[in-house]
Amino acid sequence: MLEDEILNVETIRSLLQTKSFGREPESILQVWDTIDSTNKHALQLAKDGASEGTCIISREQTAGRGRLGRSWVSPQDSGIYMSIILRPKLAMEDMPLITLATGVACARAIEFVCGASIGLKWVNDLILDRKKLGGILVEMQKPAVVVGIGINVQHDEAAVPEDLKEKMTWLRRGSDTKFSTNTLVVAIIAKLESYYQMLLDGHKSDVLNDWRSLSVNIGKEVSCQSGNQSLEGHVIDINEQGALLLRLNDGSVQSIYAGEVSVRNLDGSYS
Ligand code: BTN
Repeated sequence: MLEDEILNVETIRSLLQTKSFGREPESILQVWDTIDSTNKHALQLAKDGASEGTCIISREQTAGRGRLGRSWVSPQDSGIYMSIILRPKLAMEDMPLITLATGVACARAIEFVCGASIGLKWVNDLILDRKKLGGILVEMQKPAVVVGIGINVQHDEAAVPEDLKEKMTWLRRGSDTKFSTNTLVVAIIAKLESYYQMLLDGHKSDVLNDWRSLSVNIGKEVSCQSGNQSLEGHVIDINEQGALLLRLNDGSVQSIYAGEVSVRNLDGSYS
């Protein structure tokens, strides 16, 4: 691996042109060789008063966290594992939009740096070639919010379990995939800063429209697990708070605020 492809603080610092995110003295930028979880560390820093825009990045996580209590497997130099502290001055009902804005920011950054076409699966999955490329875990340390981002960059195809090969993917899976992970991290921080600013400035419909244009769910038949409820229906849209609007088979429309969605394939199976 080329030296500048290894995530490192000097390269990231030299490339960052954000207003405040990741830039000292406004906020902290740390790149770890190994850490248990960047989210866990960022939550602690937030508790200790770290400022908005603080970015914690690691080459490896030994106890990476996923959504719904799952773990996020994070081998060294195989992915981007990063967490950013926000201190949002937003109405409580708009807080879920942070997850959507982060998804859009990551998708646009990946498109820009890697040229890959990314889709968003409600509420927080980054999709490439119909497979999961990454995910977002937002955790609260009131009044701060920690936005955790995990993106798969490279894996040894032969070492990936057979059942996962069809479900997950990584940016360097194809042939023409030359890019620097440092540059990608910088682009994600910059895009997140600007999409987050759009929310703060009250331009939430711009963020929502961008999310809609990247959605792999809208217009599709889906199966949705929300709490202990299992629903099937047609996704008509997302609402102003980012909830999924599902038309059920009886014609009623249900707003889903939390849960997990599977998209129906042509053969009737779900992915
Ligand atoms: C998901 O389950 O889809 C969300 C995965 C989020 C993983 C990232 S990796 C960086 C940050 N630190 C963690 O422990 N988790 C998030």
